[in-house]
Amino acid sequence: MPAKPTHIRWHERLVSRQDYQRRNRHPSMVLWFTGLSGSGKSTISHAVERQLFDRGWYTYLLDGDNVRHGLNRDLGFSAEDRKENIRRIGEVAKLFVDAGLLVLTAFISPFRDDRERVRALFQPGEFVEIHVKCDLATCERRDPKGLYRKARAGEIPDFTGISSPYEEPDDPELVLDTARWSVDECVSHVVRYVETRKEAWFQPFTEKREAR
Ligand code: ADX
Repeated sequence: MPAKPTHIRWHERLVSRQDYQRRNRHPSMVLWFTGLSGSGKSTISHAVERQLFDRGWYTYLLDGDNVRHGLNRDLGFSAEDRKENIRRIGEVAKLFVDAGLLVLTAFISPFRDDRERVRALFQPGEFVEIHVKCDLATCERRDPKGLYRKARAGEIPDFTGISSPYEEPDDPELVLDTARWSVDECVSHVVRYVETRKEAWFQPFTEKREAR
């Protein structure tokens, strides 16, 4: 990595994260979906975004395959490249959270350390880790992109679950058991969690108004 230039200084902003949040009338946070390929991350996160957007939330979704076409098109699937993939996505998510948005990310993000490094970028409560939990056999049976078949045939190296590990979260904020729950059940579970967070965030404002 090139040396950091010394003439770059942090500039304090006049519009704060709290200003954005107050205007948007909701807290900002990142919903970080993690799980095996085919576990349901994309399906669920897209549906959650649709519902939250329709309820008035300011949202933005970063999806694995899309980001790998642009921002991270130079990265592959070695442990090193996945680490950099997740680092960049974490930084982008942080910018959007600073801008007052509810960010959703859908990346395998297989390594615990990489996810924990992203968590450390955020204030407590802002990083919501959602384990999209599904056993490998079920993901492989679904195989929506035919990638497991190719990986088993040796055509895709370092494939998560087959020839590269997936490290489950130790203590995620939410677990979605997609082998047992329907997509709708998983989506409702996340939306309820987020709406509850908003109510808790609103509480001090409501109390202040009532006290007047
Ligand atoms: S991550 O591990 O760095 O978080 P990411 O979520 O961006 O992965 O990309 C995963 C997607 O890339 C998969 O859904 C699949 O479509 C595709 N893919 C291509 N090669 C691999 C591989 N070796 N392992 C996992 N996914 C792969």
